[in-house]
Amino acid sequence: IDDLATEGVAGKRIFVRADLNVPLDGTTITDDGRIRAVQPTIAKLAALGAKVIVASHLGRPKGAPDPAFSLAPAARRLGELLGQDVAFATDTVGESAQAVVASLADGQVAVLENLRFNAGETSKDDAERGAFADQLAALAELYVGDGFGAVHRKHASVYDLPKRLPHAAGGLIATEVGVLKKLTEDVKRPYVVVLGGAKVSDKLAVIDQLLEKADRILVGGGMAYTFLKAKGHEVGISLLQEDQVPVCLRYLAEAEKRGVEFVLPVDVLVSPEFPDLKGKTPANPTTVASDAIPADQEGLDIGPKTRELYAAKLADAGTVFWNGPMGVFEHPDFANGTKAVAQGLLDSPAFTVVGGGDSAAAVRLLGFDENAFGHISTGGGASLEYLEGKTLPGLAALED
Ligand code: 3PG
Repeated sequence: IDDLATEGVAGKRIFVRADLNVPLDGTTITDDGRIRAVQPTIAKLAALGAKVIVASHLGRPKGAPDPAFSLAPAARRLGELLGQDVAFATDTVGESAQAVVASLADGQVAVLENLRFNAGETSKDDAERGAFADQLAALAELYVGDGFGAVHRKHASVYDLPKRLPHAAGGLIATEVGVLKKLTEDVKRPYVVVLGGAKVSDKLAVIDQLLEKADRILVGGGMAYTFLKAKGHEVGISLLQEDQVPVCLRYLAEAEKRGVEFVLPVDVLVSPEFPDLKGKTPANPTTVASDAIPADQEGLDIGPKTRELYAAKLADAGTVFWNGPMGVFEHPDFANGTKAVAQGLLDSPAFTVVGGGDSAAAVRLLGFDENAFGHISTGGGASLEYLEGKTLPGLAALED
């Protein structure tokens, strides 16, 4: 983007692929971190006199318009943050988008409707994706990729479009890659990785890579139960990915062989049912040892002994990477595990990186000062896949 700035972009139509995939409660944005993270790139291009066309996905609509996944609230919030009117196109490449783009004056910003309302965006078929990318390319003269959270997706706007337009990386991508690259190179030890969240199989793959780098891996959240099962414990009705049990067993053995400390919860909070996240009705959970989860109960957070244990394991860390909450932090009865890990990061002398939409949102929603952490990544899957050493389509396309 600095090169573009030097070349001059005044009057140019620039397509900015952002990740405005923010959590919504109806039409209310509950965490605007991703919008704030990309706002400087958009502000910079607008200040240089470009006509800025911002595009993103939101959620996972099924390739057709669906009002529940509209980007209109995100466009409004972007306008507030920029302190200027932001036009909104009610489609992505249709009449509305074309009219909005044609009406942009130098320095003005428009947001297009959700890219995933078009089946071509996420299609596995190269020709279908390419056809959609052609339509997007017709809207702009230059492309700036700055949706770090989506760079692991081989989608039309992420992968195919930069092949069709002169392109550059935005400031957010540059920062994210700079920080994550450090974690794959020289890290200050002990290097402690905390993994949680519910997407078990998505997260398991990164452990392979982390076993070569990390000194200690602490596991919590939904993925812990598959590991507890692998250790021979019953997990009641907790989240379990039975088919991943052999993979977990292999990782536990590999960790032992390599001398990596692999730490699982020693106690958990259980409840007979998933908590009420809307009304936040008290759930009155019970604390049980992690090898004694009753058959009719679901583990929903790490317990008090585990909180202490994980805080102690973080206390002397040199570097920490944390991805995924320790429990259902959206409900106050199950937020203490995630709070304890966030506090553990802050209390340690380590360089701390929080990766993942959910953990980043948790940190902010639980009232922590985001600036107190070393880096809060806007990428969940993207940061994990980067650390796995995978080629990320959205980065590869920009380097090309
Ligand atoms: C995310 O939330 O991790 C990114 O916005 C990517 O979303 P996706 O997993 O639906 O592709």
